[in-house]
This record gives sequence, structure tokens and C-alpha cells, in this order.
Amino acid sequence: MENEKKQIAFSAIQPSGTITLGNYLGAIRNWVTMQDEYNCIYALADLHTITVRQDPAQMRKNILDAYASILACGIDTEKSLFFIQSHVHTHAEMAWVLDCYTQFGELSRMTQFKDKSAKHADNINAGLFTYPSLMAGDILLYQADKVPVGADQQQHIEITRDIATRFNGLYGNVFKIPEGFIPKNGARVMSLQDPTKKMSKSDENVNGCVHLLDSPEAIMRKFKRAITDSEAHVHYGEGKDGINNLMGIYSTITGLSFEQIEHDFEGKGYGDFKTAVGEAVVEELRPIRERYESYIKDKAYLEECYRKADEIALKISSRTMNKVMKKIGFIL
Ligand code: TYM
Repeated sequence: MENEKKQIAFSAIQPSGTITLGNYLGAIRNWVTMQDEYNCIYALADLHTITVRQDPAQMRKNILDAYASILACGIDTEKSLFFIQSHVHTHAEMAWVLDCYTQFGELSRMTQFKDKSAKHADNINAGLFTYPSLMAGDILLYQADKVPVGADQQQHIEITRDIATRFNGLYGNVFKIPEGFIPKNGARVMSLQDPTKKMSKSDENVNGCVHLLDSPEAIMRKFKRAITDSEAHVHYGEGKDGINNLMGIYSTITGLSFEQIEHDFEGKGYGDFKTAVGEAVVEELRPIRERYESYIKDKAYLEECYRKADEIALKISSRTMNKVMKKIGFIL
């Protein structure tokens, strides 16, 4: 973990319900593969989830479920840190400090804020608005070089860089300026029922979203019902959002290029292709679901993992936090 020569990768996920195939292909899969090349630090961003109302008992369950699911995806706690954000108090502290170095105008431009406030019109709270500075703090506390995320987080990475550059301009080189690490393939997995919208756990149509822990039958059913077009010819093209999305999913999992997929499915119909994509997803997720089942039974093991990581995360992040406080003028 403390190998100084390796670059630092930081990322996080909100434990707000089940983890989706989009989360997995856009981010978590890269978290796993980056573990040998980078010093990896990952968090369950539970503080982020309370920008929308949560049921307390369900929230506790979601946090443990997400922790077990991500371990099951292949995060190795011997190699990487995987902690719970709310257990590391520097995150909330840094968020307040960065709030004071973030402009109202730039927060107003965040598309996620606009989308979420349209969706939760009865609860447009200040946390929803300042969410990007909490996320910036998560990243900057660890002096991260790379942030593996899906394409929907690009704007939040940009604002993080802007905040860090502004702060460094005032106080010297305090923060490393991080870069997004967005995969070529899988960065934007779309809903199976409306392929113009990103796949999301809050999709109202249950068939639109594949969950990491879905049964093989449920996965196959969702892919067989996926919306396509009337052309019945497996190739990538404009106006073929449904097929483009299925090709993207298939290519990310199998490693096959789009040309190869088009070649392999020449003369075959969409039914065959949907079955092939469904089966590839089932096989990719099968070992994850099996490992999840054993992790979730062992709460003591999960607790041992996150307590150990929480402690180290606090130590690392406190270095940056103290530096920031001193530079600003606080007495430590
Ligand atoms: P969250 O919890 O919404 O999503 C977690 C990760 O999954 C990616 N993702 C997708 N990728 C491809 N296709 C999709 N349909 C799809 N849906 C989600 C997201 O891009 C993300 O990488 N604010 C963040 C969590 C966060 C964070 C951070 C991330 C908090 N602090 C610091 C990085 C660094 C969020 O809400 O992600």
C-alpha cells in the first residue's frame, strides 16, 4: 500500500441501494484491475447518500451490502484500502473548507445538481448543491493521481481540478491535481429499456437496470426484453442506441472489438445477440454473487476490514488536512 513509487488511484461509490452493471463496468472493474499498478484507495461514500432522504435501517443494510459486494468484485484488502467515508472525519472537515473555495456559479452549472433537484423538487437541500466539494475533498485528501469513474462523473472531476488549482494558486502546491480515469468502453452503460438514458438504480422500469446480484434468470429476462430497433442487423451505428449499448456491454466483458462482434453475428438476428450478451453478463457476475453470499454472512470479517482501512485512511488524509489548515491560518 505505501509503495511511494506507484501513483495513487482514488475512487468511491455511493451505497444507496444495489450496485448496478453500470457501476461495475464503468468503475469497479477498473478499481480491481488497477490494484497492481497503483496504490489504490477506495471508499463507500455514505456521506454523499444523505442528500436524498434515507431510511435509517435500510441505509445501514445498504452500507454493509455495498461493502460486501465490492469486496466480492475483487477488491483485495491486502493490496488496497477500502474504507467507509463517514468513519474518517477529515472528509466532512475538508468539505467545509473547500465549500469556502468553491463558487456558487460553478456549482450551479453541475448537471447532476440540476437533474437531482428536478427529481427531488420537494427537497433541494444545500448538501445536494455543495456535493461536488465533498467529492473534491475525498479525492484531494489522498493526493490522488487518477480517479477511475464512469463518464457521468467527468464534470465532478473537472470541478475538483478547478478547486485544487484555485487553492494552490493562493497557498502554493498543496494539492495534487488529479486526472479522471474513464474507460474507453463501459464508461456509459445505458438503460436496457431506454437506451438514451444512463443505466441507474433509480430506473422506474425494473427491466432497464441490471443489478450486480440479480439471479441468472433475471439477467437473461432483462436482456431478452432489451429495447433495440427494427433493423435486425448487429452493427454499430447512429440511431441504434439499443444495439450500440448491448455491443458496448458485450465488448467490455469479452474484450472483443466492435468489428469482431459484427463479424461474429453476421446473418444472425437480435434474439441470438441478446442471448449472447445476457450469457456473458451472467458468467461475469456469477462468481461475484457467490462471493457476496459468503462475505455478507460474515459481519465480523467485514468490520475487521473496514476498521483497519478507516484507521489508515484517517492517518493519510490527516496529513493533507493539517497542511491545508496551517496554510489557511488556523492554529493547530
Ligand atoms: P455513483 O455512486 O453514482 O457511481 C459509482 C461509479 O459508477 C459509475 N457509474 C456508471 N458507469 C457507467 N455507466 C453507468 N450507467 C454508470 N452509473 C454509474 C460512476 O461514474 C461512478 O464512477 N459522486 C460519486 C461517488 C463519489 C466519488 C468520490 C467518485 C463520491 N466521492 C470521489 C470518485 C471520487 C457517485 O455518486 O458515484
